[in-house]
Amino acid sequence: MENKKYKGKSTEAIHAGEQKTESILDEFPEKTGIPLLPPIYQNSTFQFNNAEECASAFVDEDSGYVYTRWGNPTQEILEKKIAALEGGEAALATASGMGAISSALLTALSDGGHVVAMETLYSASFNILNDELPRMGVETTFVDATNLTNIENAIRPETKVIYLESPTNPLLKLVDLKACAEIAKKHNITTIIDNTFATPCSQQPISLGIDVVLHSITKYLSGNGAVVAGAIVGDKDFIVRVKQGSLRNFGAVISPFNAWLTLLGIPTLPLRFSRHCENAMKIATFLETHPSVEWVRYPGLESHPQHELAKRQMNGFGGMITSSLKGGLSAGETLVNKLQLCSLAVSLGDVRTLVCHPASTTHSHVPTEVRQKTGVTDGLVRFSIGLEDVEDIIADLDQGLENLPA
Ligand SMILES: Cc1ncc(COP(=O)(O)O)c(C=O)c1O
Repeated sequence: MENKKYKGKSTEAIHAGEQKTESILDEFPEKTGIPLLPPIYQNSTFQFNNAEECASAFVDEDSGYVYTRWGNPTQEILEKKIAALEGGEAALATASGMGAISSALLTALSDGGHVVAMETLYSASFNILNDELPRMGVETTFVDATNLTNIENAIRPETKVIYLESPTNPLLKLVDLKACAEIAKKHNITTIIDNTFATPCSQQPISLGIDVVLHSITKYLSGNGAVVAGAIVGDKDFIVRVKQGSLRNFGAVISPFNAWLTLLGIPTLPLRFSRHCENAMKIATFLETHPSVEWVRYPGLESHPQHELAKRQMNGFGGMITSSLKGGLSAGETLVNKLQLCSLAVSLGDVRTLVCHPASTTHSHVPTEVRQKTGVTDGLVRFSIGLEDVEDIIADLDQGLENLPA
């Protein structure tokens, strides 16, 4: 069944993809009452009435479910909802964000080729492009995609994919998505973006001409910190190729339970996201005026080098803030040790405020010169601003920053 079109994101987040159906009550025909929440089909396989039915489901997947690695109704409801939110023709839900990224890249590069990618990407995405794909004969040229000339100059006759994040992790750099999609179309190249930071509430890359949108559902889409999952959105042809090829064969499928937990999270996404944005704007402004803070990057601040692009391309600047402390490594360590409300944790998009200091934790093994080159300074702290009352978050940060070098 095609998704119904709704005017607003909140209605879409709540209703898209869902079908109120009585079929669940087939076993109790004497009873009325249709389940309001989408049901969870926590089963691995499906039974057929006869050989003909079974044979037809193998030939035409739209006619039946066979096995949950091939498809499952709970997964499918989620996929329809995510496709509607992103304005894409179709979607697939996957076992993790990396499951989505690897499945999409393996499909787009199934005949080999070359990739042009943003130079600062989520670490595991960088590892796929820098370490895994070269072993299969696929090279990537990493460029500063904030300047589109760098992308154009890196394109080769064999380039198949332009791979982007916007905003990027952790420096929150932006790419002009519409202009980049125009360049790619001229060269017949598939554009792929990881839209995890922005969410479809802030930007819908497909409407700007981007071909494929990826998500770590783990973050804002589920929002509850209970799920590791991902999604791929694109045109029907691409989605069918992923589904019947890399996803099915390499097996990064979402479990029905995680699909169902995500279905509980998505209806509140627009509401959560607007509160994430509101809190983040106030906190970015607070940090920018704090004497111990060297700089703050937040697309909503006028000081962000691409603030004008952010205003044009994003509808809400998100919940992620990156800043650098004047006191460097020890100031970063002191801050995360002193915080009481904000949690020292990786990941993002949670209802709780999460803080990480890469130089003393995730990146402590990376030599300082290498870290500095990618912009991860000793004093860099990344905040995923949660949904707590903003006064409480600011009070916690204020006490954490007290007496740090100014
Ligand atoms: C921007 C971005 N993309 C992808 C991922 C990977 O997602 P997952 O952990 O769900 O595999 C992450 C994880 O932090 C991320 O931040």
